[in-house]
Amino acid sequence: MPIIMTKAARAETKAFSLRAARGRARLVPEPHGETPAWCYNGAVPGPEIRVRQGERLRITVENALAEETTVHWHGVRLPNAMDGVPHLTQRPIAAGDTFVYEFDAVDAGTFWYHPHQRSFEQVGRGLYGPMIIEETEPPRVDRDITWVIDDWRLTQSAEISEDFGNRHDMNHGGRVGNTATINGRVPDTFAVRRGERVRLRLINAANARIFGLDFQTHALKVIALDGQPVTPHQPTDGLVVLGPAMRADLILDMTGEPSSRVSVVDRFYKGLEYRLVDLAYDEAPLREYTPDWPIALPANPLPEPDPGTARRHDVVFNGGMMGGMVMREMGGSMGESGSGGMGGTMGMMHGNGIWFINGKAAEGHVLDPMLTLDRGKSHVIAMTNATAWHHPIHLHGHSFRVISRNGAKTTHREWQDTVLMAPREKVEIAFVADNPGDWMFHCHILEHQAGGMMGVIRVV
Ligand code: C2O
Ligand code: CU
Repeated sequence: MPIIMTKAARAETKAFSLRAARGRARLVPEPHGETPAWCYNGAVPGPEIRVRQGERLRITVENALAEETTVHWHGVRLPNAMDGVPHLTQRPIAAGDTFVYEFDAVDAGTFWYHPHQRSFEQVGRGLYGPMIIEETEPPRVDRDITWVIDDWRLTQSAEISEDFGNRHDMNHGGRVGNTATINGRVPDTFAVRRGERVRLRLINAANARIFGLDFQTHALKVIALDGQPVTPHQPTDGLVVLGPAMRADLILDMTGEPSSRVSVVDRFYKGLEYRLVDLAYDEAPLREYTPDWPIALPANPLPEPDPGTARRHDVVFNGGMMGGMVMREMGGSMGESGSGGMGGTMGMMHGNGIWFINGKAAEGHVLDPMLTLDRGKSHVIAMTNATAWHHPIHLHGHSFRVISRNGAKTTHREWQDTVLMAPREKVEIAFVADNPGDWMFHCHILEHQAGGMMGVIRVV
């Protein structure tokens, strides 16, 4: 029995409501005006939905937009009917209608919510919010802070540029913008005190921008990725890398001097580094030592995949600008894997899209399953990124272990729900398919998703 479906009876239910509507957000400071945006409960981001692990959530969503919507609870392992995928798991919520989502908070961690209907525009206009599920016994910190980071394409007058879903964004790296915000504002400083320990929950809500955050002189530990606990470790090259939809929980000890400022710099795109925000130290320290409190998180109830018995499935991504070239380059090593015939040219691909998974470009959410997985069994998906672009690949309804990259075992076998693949990279993920239903599997660069990089994985 999947744990996800059982034991609702005694759980306490917490009720929330979300109203999706047009609104205004103060993204950029004066003298700019407010930005017309689409908001949950009048704000960007929407309200932080926060419960304890083991509680049940009931969220009433009212659609006051002029078009259909749904809400997807990204990374939350829940029953298929609550997953918020239009036409696949529910009828879209019509303008003026409401829909009630109800599910158990099975895993503790940092999650988020956003529409799954025309998400490249609905998310891009500001519809998203954090969902925090607290551990029963969280590690001790001085402050537990959430930063939902986003990237907007704004005009001179601080309005959202209307060029959603244009062909160029779709063919290249997606809608990368020009204005980064934390919790819906271009930040200036974030006030801290020497000696303070902060748990920083980072959520990348951007359509397309990948962040690579450098906290400079601060020693930090990553304690969770995509909501799931990971062996506390320092990130490679000191950069916290987050593709769209990805999350990281950090333990950040404020070791700077009183009254000093330390910038947090985004270094992901070479030559385009910029200062995201300054940590601004108060003149009075909080304490004179760095706490030695334990930081490891308790495990979530995830079934452990067995590599010995796992079935293997090959998945190849292609398409996009320079896709033909990369395919020819990688052709030799890709063999006949996948169902679309990978050795060939773009001419063998099916669909009108720009991006392909195993030779197919998705149109809409109702799709023949690209894979059908035996329920309760272990599965390995061996993925090849045969494109010239990064892709954060997301699977609904499950978390998976990232077990290898380009043939080398990963150090932490981290649980993720969205894994960032570099151009030409091969990544293997493993999981137990314990949650029955039709689940989306797609790139979370929302323009790539709209351009066809999406499929359905059926668990029966
Ligand atoms: Cu956060 Cu299918 O998405
Ligand atoms: Cu992509």
